[in-house]
Amino acid sequence: MAEVTGRRPLMAGNWKMNLNHLEAIALVQKLAFTLTEQQLNDVEAVVLPPFVDIRSVQTLIDGDKLLIGYGAQDISAHTAGAYTGEISGAMLAKLGCQYVVVGHSERRQYHAEDDTLVNAKVKAALASGIAPILCVGEGLEIRESGEHVGYTLAQLDAALEKVKTDEVEKIVVAYEPVWAIGTGKVATPQDAQEVIGAIRTRLAEKYTGGTADRVRILYGGSVKHDNVAAIIEQPDIDGALVGGASIDAEGFARIVRLGK
Ligand code: 13P
Repeated sequence: MAEVTGRRPLMAGNWKMNLNHLEAIALVQKLAFTLTEQQLNDVEAVVLPPFVDIRSVQTLIDGDKLLIGYGAQDISAHTAGAYTGEISGAMLAKLGCQYVVVGHSERRQYHAEDDTLVNAKVKAALASGIAPILCVGEGLEIRESGEHVGYTLAQLDAALEKVKTDEVEKIVVAYEPVWAIGTGKVATPQDAQEVIGAIRTRLAEKYTGGTADRVRILYGGSVKHDNVAAIIEQPDIDGALVGGASIDAEGFARIVRLGK
């Protein structure tokens, strides 16, 4: 809906724990020669590789001046120090990361990340000049109980605690219903629009209408080239956060092309 809203469509590929740095280089190269300059201007295409791939991706994208963005899948809430295994916002910024995924359901589930930590990570990203891709979304039980809108908005409120108006515009929100992730069960365009429309309304209430109009909100969960068009046709949906389908260059390129 970019022509109407003025928001640039964004297709982001969350590779999760897939592809080593050599495979990463091959995939980004293939994306770059599969997509035209025009297509990459119309739609912002972003890859989110594992940490160990980022330096290689940076070198390739910078060296060849590719019109592809990149970022990370996680960030530490801390700035530096004795936090074994963690990666700081400053380190990611130094590698040129523009985006970082925060609050992904896999981290909430497997790494016990709660709303307080998600809020701290959102602030850590913003403090380093990196745009958080803030993931929210309900599990199957909550969907079936009909509480999905309230649940997702509560996650949003908690993640944005004490985040100011000028900062919130830099954030990308991704609505990823947990039951749709990696299951092949994509939300209907209407289901996705219901929650994403409610997220935008909540942003307008918390901040301003103008702010809410500028924040990009994505859908994620079993997005493929054959279902993405109907989803991004919805008035409040500005793109997709793609998992499985993003580690195939041809498949992801088709999704990017359909983002317009
Ligand atoms: P799938 O596209 O594999 O369902 O994953 C979605 C996701 O979790 C993106 O962050």
